[in-house]
Formats: sequence, C-alpha cells, structure tokens
Amino acid sequence: MELFSFLRGRVQICASIWFWIVLLFMLQNSRGTASASTYLIGLGSYDITGPAADVNMMGYANSEQIASGVHFRLRARTFIVAEPQGNRVVFVNLDACMASQLVKMKVIERLKARYGNLYTENNVAISGIHTHAGPGGYLQYVVYIVTSLGFVRQSFDALVDGIEQCIIQAHENLRPGSVFVNKGQLLNTGVNRSPSAYLNNPASERNKYKYNVDTEMALLKFVDNEWGPVGSFNWFATHGTSMSRTNSLISGDNKGAAARFMEDWFEENNSGSGASPIKKEKIPRRVSNIIPSMRKKYDKLIDLAATFQSSGGRHATRLLSVVRRVRSDSRQADKPRFVSAFCQTNCGDVSPNVLGAFCTDTGLPCDFNQSTCNGKNELCYGRGPGYPDEFESTRIIGDRQFRKAVDLFNGASEQLNGKVDYRHTFKDFSKLEVTLPKQGGGNEVIKTCPAAMGFGFAAGTTDGPGAFDFRQGDNKGNAFWRLVRNVLKTPSKEQIDCQKPKPILLDTGEMKEPYDWAPSILPIQILRIGQLVILSVPGGNNSPPCIL
Ligand SMILES: *[C@@H]1O[C@H](CO)[C@@H](O)[C@H](O)[C@H]1NC(C)=O
Ligand SMILES: *[C@@H]1O[C@H](CO)[C@@H](O)[C@H](O)[C@H]1NC(C)=O
Repeated sequence: MELFSFLRGRVQICASIWFWIVLLFMLQNSRGTASASTYLIGLGSYDITGPAADVNMMGYANSEQIASGVHFRLRARTFIVAEPQGNRVVFVNLDACMASQLVKMKVIERLKARYGNLYTENNVAISGIHTHAGPGGYLQYVVYIVTSLGFVRQSFDALVDGIEQCIIQAHENLRPGSVFVNKGQLLNTGVNRSPSAYLNNPASERNKYKYNVDTEMALLKFVDNEWGPVGSFNWFATHGTSMSRTNSLISGDNKGAAARFMEDWFEENNSGSGASPIKKEKIPRRVSNIIPSMRKKYDKLIDLAATFQSSGGRHATRLLSVVRRVRSDSRQADKPRFVSAFCQTNCGDVSPNVLGAFCTDTGLPCDFNQSTCNGKNELCYGRGPGYPDEFESTRIIGDRQFRKAVDLFNGASEQLNGKVDYRHTFKDFSKLEVTLPKQGGGNEVIKTCPAAMGFGFAAGTTDGPGAFDFRQGDNKGNAFWRLVRNVLKTPSKEQIDCQKPKPILLDTGEMKEPYDWAPSILPIQILRIGQLVILSVPGGNNSPPCIL
C-alpha cells in the first residue's frame, strides 16, 4: 500500500493554493519596496539517519519491510531568510517520508528554550522528500504507525535532534546575501502512475496542460555577499519510490541522491575557484572524491584518514581541523559547506518508475484501468529507468534532477526582493464548506466529511501494490472486507453518503481508539520571501512555489 495515493489524478495544485494565498494574505499591495534586496541568509545541514536496523520503513506500509543497513545516510537541510530588522522564515527539508506534527511541536519547544520567540510554529516550515526508504514510527496518528507496531522513539529522536541542529547551524550562519529564483521543465523524471484516473478529470481542465504530470522544477539560489553561492533548494514532483517495497536499506531515494550529487558537484567544481582556499586536490573533503584514485593505495588512504581530526561533536558545515589550523588567518576558513536540498511538491500520483507498469509473470503491461495482471493486483510493478536494478534507477532519477538543478542554478538571475512574511492556521478539513459552480448556472455549497480510506487505497499503486485482491479504481468494495472493517468501526450512513462513490474500507476519520487514527485538523502554512510564496502542509508535501 502506498500512503500518498489519495491524491490520485490531481496534479496541478498550484492553482488551487491561490484560494489559501488570497484568504490568508489579503494581498493588497503588500509587495513592498524593490530597493531592499539584501536579506540575511543562513543554511544548515545535519544527519537524521536514525535507526538502521530492525525498524519498519515509512511509505509502503509494508510490515515486512524492515531496515537492515544503510544505502546512504539521511540529512535535514535548512534555509533561513530574514529581513535585517524584520521577519524571518525557516524552511527545513527532511530526507524522510514526510514531516510530522509531533516532531515539529518538539522542535519548536526546543527552539523556544534556545531563542525565545524567534522561531515558532508560524515561521518554521518542515517538509519531507517522501523517500519510502527511511525509518518509520515518528507520527502521532494510528494509521501511520500500524506497520511499525507503534511509536519508535529512536526514529523520533533522530529527527528532532537533527532538525534542531540544522536550524542552529543555519542561524549561526546568517549573513547578508541575496536569493535568486529560476524555473524550468524537467521531462522523463516522473510519469502519472494512474493515467486512467487522470482521464476522469474534465477535458477542459486537462486541455490546460501539455502533460499529465507537473514537469516544472523551481529553484532558489542563495548567494552570500562575500562568499558567493552557498546553497540551493529546489522543488520538483516525483515520488521517492525508486527504491522498491522490498528494499531494506535506509536511503534518501532519488531526491536524497540528487542532493548528494549537487553538493559533491559544487565542492569539486566550484569551491576551488576564486579566493577560496579549498583546493580540491590537496584536501579531499568527501570519501567519494578520494576513493577512485586511491583504490590501489590502501595504506595511503589510511594515512590520509589519520590526518583528519574528529570534529569533537562540533558542526560539520564549518571547516575544522586541517583547514582551520592551517588557514586560521583567513576568514574563508569559516565558509560553510554548500547545502543543496531537493524538496518534494505535488507528487501525489507521480512515479519515478518512468518505463511504465508491467506484470511480473508475463512481462506485459498491466491492465490500464485497474493496474492488475490477469485480475491480480500483486503482480503489477512500475519499472525505473535502471530496471531491474533499483539502485541504478535511484541514481538515474537523482542524476536527472541534479542536472536540471545545476542548469537552473547557473542561470538563476531573477532576484527576490520585498517583504519576508508568513501565515499559519489550523483548518478542520472534516467539515469545510466549498462553493462549486452548478451545471446550468448558479452555485451550490457542498461539505467535506471526515477522512476515510477506500478499497482502492488497499490496492496500493504500481510503485508498491497492496496484498490480497484489492483493485485500483474499485467503487464497489467487497462483502468480506466490509465485515472485517465493521469489527473496527462501522461508518455512519451520513459518512457513507458523503464519501460516495468511494466505498469505505477504513473509516479512519471517525476512529478515535486508542487515539485518533487520522488527522481532521490540519496546519496550513505559507512562507513568503519577496515575490515567492511557498505553501506547506506539515505531515504532507508542499505545493510548488508560486512566483507572484
Ligand atoms: C566536476 O567536473 C568534471 C569535469 O566537467 C566532471 O568530470 C566531474 O564529474 C564533476 N564532479 C562532480 C562531482 O560532478
Ligand atoms: C478503461 O475504462 C474506460 C471507462 O470505463 C473504458 O472506456 C476503456 O475502454 C477502458 N480501457 C481499457 C484499456 O480497458
């Protein structure tokens, strides 16, 4: 099963967030003056790998997917943008399946103790890259911790500690600088994994878009007034499911890989230029830089390793040990490491398995409407570009995002200027009123209802099919599972009618024992930096940034 399949068929969210932007901002000429173009900017990065063995992984909701090692480590990456005498906003990107309200509450508690009211739930946004290969058990709602058999303290602590530390770093790195924005198209990095469901959208809406997924990448480039570029954050929609539901190694999947590629690229190919004292051939700063040429010189490698001193628990973004001691006369030694984050957006039904979905028994494409093979849902799997090697698929999809990000980074010339601002509110999504245009003129007001999972949810997706005989697009359900469901909670008639035509498998929004199974009240947050607006929904993903 796959936790984000509920956004099936919806790909263009940017348009719908205007509702919130208008509602929460009441914009009226708040664009500010174009003169104050310099902000204070600070970036940070910290390890959040967490327990790498014996913990259920978050994403596929597969209770048999238990971590047993590390493909590569996970990080939290942060930027802070502040007006010198005004507001500040913080954005944290996690190499995790999603953020968590519980984690955020704990982080804010710690930031309050350290900085007073500088960083609050209102101006700190936390987002996840949606990797399906990170440890689970850190969310507070029952649905999300069923397969991890409850709360996992170690997962939770690794996230809270890492986020706190990377915000501290970003705070300490705050210096005058500018932010640039750039956007571009990236193809062949995500496909719609429910193309038949997408066709249920009205033709008039589909005609507005060339593709059935959002192909835009938006990138922010952070430039320190003295040191030049210090980092970049970009947003692009593709699922973190290059690694499969049977993978047992902790991994940042394609976005975590892309971030590493870009940070390595910058350190190797940019930081050596200009006045920087970091000469790549003299002081290799990452194992990936030294291994290829040192493979046959093992002893030399050991000697080299011995020349590096432990940072003694201090932050790794500042150059310590060798460079600090040798170059202590140079302020450049304080230059923080380049931080590059690949953030998630409206990836609801966007799969990185771009070759399409095939049956594992026959090798033929799966049934178009139901993603089944001969009526069976368990055999239909999406294939990544490195098929059958999922590590290679992860690398290729990461590489495509990395290359696009470098293009956008090198070409970023539109500078952000104007106010830094933010809004935060809680909305009860179980009883929202929505005004819809009626066929034949006029409007009607409809109401949302508490959350519920349909039978189609249990079918999972072609990135990770569910067990048993559930089918995608099922609007009838089946008597046996209805009976099982009723043991947990029988949905009311009102709820059944409201959720129609979706048949209810689990009435999660109305299940409260031993505590809430699913959230009804969701935080909605908007960050604004000049003409850029980011909408963030903690626990889920972000909308693509909008440029006003
Ligand atoms: C740095 O540039 C060189 C030459 O273009 C390239 O071969 C190398 O892969 C680059 N390094 C990284 C880490 O991308
Ligand atoms: C999928 O379903 C639609 C609507 O029911 C139908 O018109 C179409 O023929 C089906 N396509 C395939 C390939 O089965």
